[in-house]
Amino acid sequence: MTISSPSAAGGAAAPESFDAIEVIRLKRDGHRIDDARIDWVVDAYTRGVVAPEQMSALAMAILLNGMDRDEISRWTAAMIASGERMDFSGLTAPDGRRLATADKHSTGGVGDKITLPLAPLVASYGVAVPQLSGRGLGHTGGTLDKLEAIPGWRSDLTTEAMLRQLSEVGAVICAAGSGLAPADKRLYALRDVTGTVEAIPLIASSIMSKKIAEGTGALVLDVKCGSGAFMKDEASARELARTMVDLGRDAGVDTSALLTDMSVPLGRTAGNALEVRESVEVLAGGGPADVVELTVALAAAMLAGAGVTDVDPAEHLANGRAMDVWNRMIEAQGGDPRAALPTAAHTEDVVAETDGVLTELDAMAVGLAAWRLGAGRERQGEAVQAGAGVELHARPGDRVVKGQTLMTLHTDTPERFDRARQALEGGWAVSAAPDAAAAAALRERSVVLDRIG
Ligand code: URA
Repeated sequence: MTISSPSAAGGAAAPESFDAIEVIRLKRDGHRIDDARIDWVVDAYTRGVVAPEQMSALAMAILLNGMDRDEISRWTAAMIASGERMDFSGLTAPDGRRLATADKHSTGGVGDKITLPLAPLVASYGVAVPQLSGRGLGHTGGTLDKLEAIPGWRSDLTTEAMLRQLSEVGAVICAAGSGLAPADKRLYALRDVTGTVEAIPLIASSIMSKKIAEGTGALVLDVKCGSGAFMKDEASARELARTMVDLGRDAGVDTSALLTDMSVPLGRTAGNALEVRESVEVLAGGGPADVVELTVALAAAMLAGAGVTDVDPAEHLANGRAMDVWNRMIEAQGGDPRAALPTAAHTEDVVAETDGVLTELDAMAVGLAAWRLGAGRERQGEAVQAGAGVELHARPGDRVVKGQTLMTLHTDTPERFDRARQALEGGWAVSAAPDAAAAAALRERSVVLDRIG
């Protein structure tokens, strides 16, 4: 693998080619921004020449007036050019065999632990998975926070250690270095506080600049829609997926996307150690049907992108081969895959008040409750509680009886229970007179809504 860096500017400061106000006016007035101005404004913002208030005005103009495909593509390329690029094209196994690489990116959701079983599953078929992951902020969990619930596990690997593990084990999940797409780091923080996160050109370029800079050969996007996702409706999620697939392909990365449901939480757990436990159940051939369905669907798409098409990924969940890679992947990063996982000091149950069928279980409400119990952080850098979260004992479509436990809330700090219960108010419903066909449809609903690309 090689890493290339942007060339350092040296000597006396050159005069700037454009000024920020003219670029803002262009987009404000509904025009497209040409390549030279896009390159300049992204670079000048990264250098601190374009001020944050100017970039926030431009981000708002982009949110309101959009960008065409060429503009988004150029904006993405400019963000990639702001930092390092990794290149895994020379990666080999210890026996000298060339290794193809595949990566997955999820737009984020509640109970989304899929990366944990997915990376070792794909690696068990001989395709290397360099999964650079992040931490949770807000109601969605972060993969690194989840894995840190495993005693001893470390996310911070040197590039050499990461490469060695990729070659020897086939899968690595670690923290992304700060050198990839630094323009995005600055811009994302600005969008977060200026009401400009929800612009499809900005979300697509933000995600894809990092993924393309990571240098994977094949990429599968899990674009979520529903209450617990960025994109609440299917039409916007579809547009985001299409935009990102086009960006990946323009950059020479074999990219495809699954459109998936995030109106209910994935699986039966939301919270760090709770989600590790559920992931291990999936690796052992069990686990909730929706988590298994999505893991297998994403694995098939990643393997196809890397040229492996004649396999059924469910087999390596059933026969333990994915679990073998998981154990080696966790051990290689200092973790003990057989150690007991941390549990929260306190639990409380949420119970059904009537007999009936659970007809609603809102992903956002459960995510917020898990976060308030201590599974997530309010500010970057805060510690999370490994054992905190929500355990779901019933899923939409399940028949329940009065007094039955629907959810268990877990936390080390019991003063958090009240706020978590408030988050859940109105977030679930039991219907006393359910329509049997509707209940069956809820139970059998597929998590994968569509495939794009
Ligand atoms: N994730 C990102 O990395 N960027 C966005 O803009 C939204 C989600």
